[in-house]
Amino acid sequence: MSDSSTSASWSRRGFLRAVGVSGGAGTMFAAMGALGLAPTAEAAGATAAFSAPSASDFTLTGRSAASVVILGGGIAGLISAYELGKAGYRCTILEPRSRTGGRNFTARGGTTETDVFGRKQTAAFSEGQYMNCGPARLAQWMVTLDYCRELRVPIQVFTNTNADAFIYNESAGMTKPERYRSAKSDVYGYVSELLAKATSQGALDSELTSEDKERLITFLQGWGQLDSTSLRYTDSGNRGYSPYPGAAGTPGTSLGPVPGLSEVFASGVGRYFSFEFGFDQAMLMFQPVGGMDQIPKALTKAIGAEKVRLGCQATKITELPDGVTVEYTDAHGHARAISADYLIAAMPPHLLAKLPHNLGPSVQTGLQAITPASASKIGLEYKSRWWETDYQIYGGITETDLDLTHVWHPSYDFHGDRGVLIGYYNYGQNADMYGKMTPAEREARAITLGTKIYGPKYRTEFASSFSQSWRYIPHIEGAWHNTPDGGPDAPVLKPLAHPTGRTYFAGDWLSYMDAWQHGAITSARSAVTQLHTRQLAAAV
Ligand code: PHE
Repeated sequence: MSDSSTSASWSRRGFLRAVGVSGGAGTMFAAMGALGLAPTAEAAGATAAFSAPSASDFTLTGRSAASVVILGGGIAGLISAYELGKAGYRCTILEPRSRTGGRNFTARGGTTETDVFGRKQTAAFSEGQYMNCGPARLAQWMVTLDYCRELRVPIQVFTNTNADAFIYNESAGMTKPERYRSAKSDVYGYVSELLAKATSQGALDSELTSEDKERLITFLQGWGQLDSTSLRYTDSGNRGYSPYPGAAGTPGTSLGPVPGLSEVFASGVGRYFSFEFGFDQAMLMFQPVGGMDQIPKALTKAIGAEKVRLGCQATKITELPDGVTVEYTDAHGHARAISADYLIAAMPPHLLAKLPHNLGPSVQTGLQAITPASASKIGLEYKSRWWETDYQIYGGITETDLDLTHVWHPSYDFHGDRGVLIGYYNYGQNADMYGKMTPAEREARAITLGTKIYGPKYRTEFASSFSQSWRYIPHIEGAWHNTPDGGPDAPVLKPLAHPTGRTYFAGDWLSYMDAWQHGAITSARSAVTQLHTRQLAAAV
C-alpha cells in the first residue's frame, strides 16, 4: 500500500471514529456510506456493487454479528449463509429436501428422486455421465461465475449454439432435419437479398442517404453472401457440403440447390436465430466441470455442513419485536423450533405463502403475486456418441417444433464412449404433460419423437433415462415463475424486496433474472446487505 493511500485511510478512519463517538453508530454508518465505504440503506437493495460483510465491519460499532435462520438451502439460501458467514453471523439453514442446491440439481448414476405423485426414479447413468436437471448454462457476466472462481469450481465451455446442430419443424412439412448453418445461410441470404433490392430500387430513399444505401448494400452483400452484380442470394458454400472439400480432385459437393424464398420462410427456421443474440444466452456460455451441483456442493462445504439441517420443513413463522421463531418438522418427524435474530426466507414464494406466519397481509399479497411456471427435462444415456460420429455434432442444441422443444447434445466428454443427450427440455403445458406421464411413458415418447429427427440409433443405442418436471418435485414445485411487471421493483413486491421487519426474502423470483442462479445470488446479496446494514446500525 502506498503512503498516500495509507494516510488517506487513516484520516478517514479518524473522521469516522469522531462521527461514531458523537453521533452513534447509525450516524457513523451513514457517514461511511457517504464516503463510499459502506452501503447506505438506500443502496442496500442495489445489486451492481456488492461488498461482502466482514467481521471488521463491527470493529467500531460495539455490535457483533447476529444469528440468522435461513429457510431453504437452494442457491439463494446458500449464498446468504456463505456471505453472512464471512462476518461471523451464526446461520442455520433449514432445508426440507435431502440435499442442498434446490433446483441446481445434477443426476448421475444412483441419484434418486420421488415426485409429488410418489413415483420414484433412480438414475442408472454410467460412471462420469450426468445431466443437469435444473440450471445448465452460465453467461460470462453472471455473478455465478464469480463464485465458481472464488470457490475453485472449475468451468468449461457450454455449447449453446452450434452451426452443425439441427432444426426440425415437422408442422412446416420437414421430413428430415436441416442444419443450423444451412438454415441461417438461407434466411440471412434472402432477407439480405430483399433488403438490398429494395434499397437499390429506391424503396428506402426517404430513410437513407445515397452513402447509407451504398454502405448498407455492401454490408448485405457480405452478410447474405449475395452475388455482387445481381444482388441475388446464391449458394456460396455457407450452406455446407456433403462431402466437405478435401484434397485435389475433391472440391466438395454443396448441399444441393438453394431452396426458393417462400420455401425458406414457410419452413419457419428463422424463428430460432434471435436466441444467439440474447444478452443471457449468447456464446460463450459456461458450465461447471462435472455437473452444475459442484456449486452448491462447494458452497455447502464452505458454509459448514453442520449449519445445514436437511429434511427439516418449516411449519410456522413468528416474527417478534426482537427476533424470529420458526417452527419446523425435523428429519425424524419431530416438531421443533428455532429462534434467531433474523430470518431469511429463501424458499419458493408460492410454498412460503402456504405457511402460517404473522408477517402481515402486504407480505402475503406479495408472495401470492408470484406463481410457479413449469419446465421439464429428460436425460437419455447412449451406448455411443453417434451424434458425434454419424452427424459431426459436438454439443449445442437442436430446435424442434415437436413437444420435445429443445434437444441438447452434451458439452462434456467429447469423443467419450457414452454420452447423455437431453432428449427434451420444454416448458409450460408440454412440461406438465410429460410431468404427468410415468417415467417409462416419457422415455418412450421422447425416443419415438427423437427418432424422427435422428433416425434409428436414437432407439437402438439407447441405454437408460432419468426425467423430471419441476412443477411436480416436492418442496420446489416450479421451474421458475410468472412475476409481476416491474420485477422486484413492482409495488406489490416492495414489502419483500425492502422489508421493514426482521424477515428478509431472497430468490430468483425477487430479482430481474428469474430462472437464473444470477437472480438468486443477486437477490440474496441484497438481503444480506440490508440485514447487515441494519445490524451494524442497530441499537446496542
Ligand atoms: N435459465 C434457463 C435456461 O437458460 C431458463 C431460461 C430460458 C431463461 C430461456 C431465459 C431464457 O434454460
